[in-house]
Amino acid sequence: MSEQLSTLAAVYGSDVGFLERQQARLNELLHAFGQLWGQGPVMVFRAPGRVNLIGEHTDYNHGFVLPMALDRDVLLALRPRADGRVILGNVEQGFGERSFEISRDIPRLPLGDWGNYVQGPAQLLSQRYEQPLHGFDALVDGRPGLGVPRGAGLSSSSALTVAAAVALVHINELPLNGPALADACGQAEWYVGTRGGVMDQFASLLSRQGHALFLDCRPDAATQTYTYRHVPVSPQFQVVVIDSQVRHANTGPHFNRRVAEGRIGVALLRKYYPGITHLRDVQQVRWEDLEPLLPETITAEALLQQGIDPERILDAGRSAETNIYNVRARCRHVHSENTRVLATMEALSSLDMSRAGALMVEAHRSAATAYEISTPEIDALVDACLEAGAVGARITGAGWGGCVVALVASEQVEAFVSQVSLAYRAATGLQAESFVCRSARGAGLMFSTNL
Ligand code: GLA
Repeated sequence: MSEQLSTLAAVYGSDVGFLERQQARLNELLHAFGQLWGQGPVMVFRAPGRVNLIGEHTDYNHGFVLPMALDRDVLLALRPRADGRVILGNVEQGFGERSFEISRDIPRLPLGDWGNYVQGPAQLLSQRYEQPLHGFDALVDGRPGLGVPRGAGLSSSSALTVAAAVALVHINELPLNGPALADACGQAEWYVGTRGGVMDQFASLLSRQGHALFLDCRPDAATQTYTYRHVPVSPQFQVVVIDSQVRHANTGPHFNRRVAEGRIGVALLRKYYPGITHLRDVQQVRWEDLEPLLPETITAEALLQQGIDPERILDAGRSAETNIYNVRARCRHVHSENTRVLATMEALSSLDMSRAGALMVEAHRSAATAYEISTPEIDALVDACLEAGAVGARITGAGWGGCVVALVASEQVEAFVSQVSLAYRAATGLQAESFVCRSARGAGLMFSTNL
């Protein structure tokens, strides 16, 4: 095996056909990099997207999650510069070039612009470290196929943030790695305007082949460290990701609205549980005891009367414009979802896959009815998966379209995929796209050479 192939095998596993496709992609990227930036040294960093098995919208409430890294990733080929400039090219036509100076206050590009996902970590690292940081000349490759599907709830944008952060840390020799780096990447993404948690960045950085990553998203109060564990997934079962092809533009305000509703729940519960900061702080309390303390819905005016300003509750984040907050159902989802994550961990450890599957189905129902992040197409896709023999299936990621994750017995996967595709097309007229998640290694420097 060539040196290049064995490097790739350490990241992606041993499927020769897949490795050859990765090799072709890597060489295309190196070639394009040489054309753009000329001869000389080049480093290639990669960061994977993730699929979440269970634990949705719990992370920013300091709850539990169980994601795994995909073998689909973003590649960032680069050459360090002597100054602090970053110049980004993209192998995909239409993305254009982006360029900025690393500083403690980098002017934001328009909302949704891909350059923000590199500017965010650059600004955060510059704020954290006194030394002037080196920038780089780079070429990004997130092409469909081996790249992370975009807008599909598989964290393509976090992958770019993580790749950029890992690269900046490496070339500037910053003393930041592991969970502290993942945590920094989570904060760096606030730069783009959403108020997400740390799940995507931890999954992208700290995952291990063949394993899911259990993460407790509440850092230890004294040390600010996180508890996490790699959980093996039975090789008798496959994690299948099915893209509904439904995309909803501009979901950021809806996402932030959910974040706000959880925080409002905390603010209201603080009367009875002084000092709590996140919903996780009342996880030990039975839901039956919490429920009567939370209003089903509450208006902004009623909150203001109680001294809670819903506008300020999100810091600088934007929230959807409606005056009514659905507090109780949102908190119920988070509380019950945390319990399901722990139960799923136990089920996976004792190889009780039908129990794990049943918990995923429960999680989907809760996400659809209490958290209201599903769509009719996604519900149809989940039903199609269960009819086709999945032991469990649920929406994965932030929601409002995107992907379903299903747990399927290995020998059934082929028949499953074609049956789901037919049933989904019959129900919605849409063509679902499925792939088996092979769970690659977490982000890092993959390859360096001289062109
Ligand atoms: C997005 C966010 C994550 C998490 C999920 C929902 O992917 O970036 O932090 O909140 O949604 O579970």
